[in-house]
Amino acid sequence: MHDLSTYIELIRSGEVVAFPTETVYGLGADAWNPSAIKKVFTTKGRPSDNPLIVHIAERDQVNDFADEISPIALKLMDAFWPGPVTIILQKKSKVLDLITAGLDTVAIRMPDHPIASEFISQAGPLVAPSANRSGKPSPTKAEHVKNDFGDDFPVIDGGATEVGLESTVVDFTTEIPSILRPGKIGSNELENILKIEVEVSNPGNAPSLPKSPGQKYSHYKPEAQVVYKEVSTFNNHTLYLMQTAAEIQQENVICYHGDLKQLSRELYDRFRQADHMEYSRIHIEPLELHRSEFPAYYDALINRIRKTLE
Ligand code: TXA
Ligand code: MG
Repeated sequence: MHDLSTYIELIRSGEVVAFPTETVYGLGADAWNPSAIKKVFTTKGRPSDNPLIVHIAERDQVNDFADEISPIALKLMDAFWPGPVTIILQKKSKVLDLITAGLDTVAIRMPDHPIASEFISQAGPLVAPSANRSGKPSPTKAEHVKNDFGDDFPVIDGGATEVGLESTVVDFTTEIPSILRPGKIGSNELENILKIEVEVSNPGNAPSLPKSPGQKYSHYKPEAQVVYKEVSTFNNHTLYLMQTAAEIQQENVICYHGDLKQLSRELYDRFRQADHMEYSRIHIEPLELHRSEFPAYYDALINRIRKTLE
């Protein structure tokens, strides 16, 4: 295990520190320290009307931030925490407006990652947006964070993240819970556990009005132009993310063979790689054939890919 003491000290003195989670790297700051939270916004260049997720390490900490927690929300925590699901609940009045952007709700998540758990239990609770500059893809490796914020930026290096796409965000403040941002945990899994219908307000196949403020910003955008259609010919200024079975031996052609889990893990790294290598295009072969095998990853991937096409 890493020695986290320097990073814990930084958080305690009001600084920001990037750390790994199972989804993407987060930019952590003390959830009770207003000036530290302001640093999160200025570091990222994030609009102040886009609220942050509070990251906790123990279940009891939910009660410091949220009120009126329904039995269904508790059931979800039992089943999926720690894990890549963020829950929106009514906030306690003492929760800083800086975190919630003035909303009366708060987003909470308990990451499933040994470094994150240790770090949050010693230094947290922490607010933590993805540790990228606004407009860049979320970081899935420590080097991505350094690319955005400089070599001296404090990052706890936990290697490449497992899931690669941000957590599923589920709103429990409405009568029917609704998924505001699709992620690894999909509506089927939620419905199986909760035994109630879950709405998907940001489905993979149709645009809709954003309820989650973050959904209105064009996040995740690489500089290369993203194209989503069948591939007919290859050229060498394009990076191809292919599903077809044949293995094509070319540096700019990556074959996923329909493994949408692997594609999720690597998507943002490929976006960054494309910009680094100065490819002018990223051509993604359509994923529809593999939807039934990976429904949640499919919805999450399509949601992220769509944003790059807007
Ligand atoms: O996987 C993740 O969730 C990562 C890691 C670091 O934990 N974090 C992350 O944070 O993706 P961020 O800030 O990049 O995305 C948080 C999303 C945004 O779309 C934001 O608008 C939404 O959650 N959100 C936060 N608080 C909310 C609230 N009270 N109501 C609705 N949406 C909220
Ligand atoms: Mg983000």
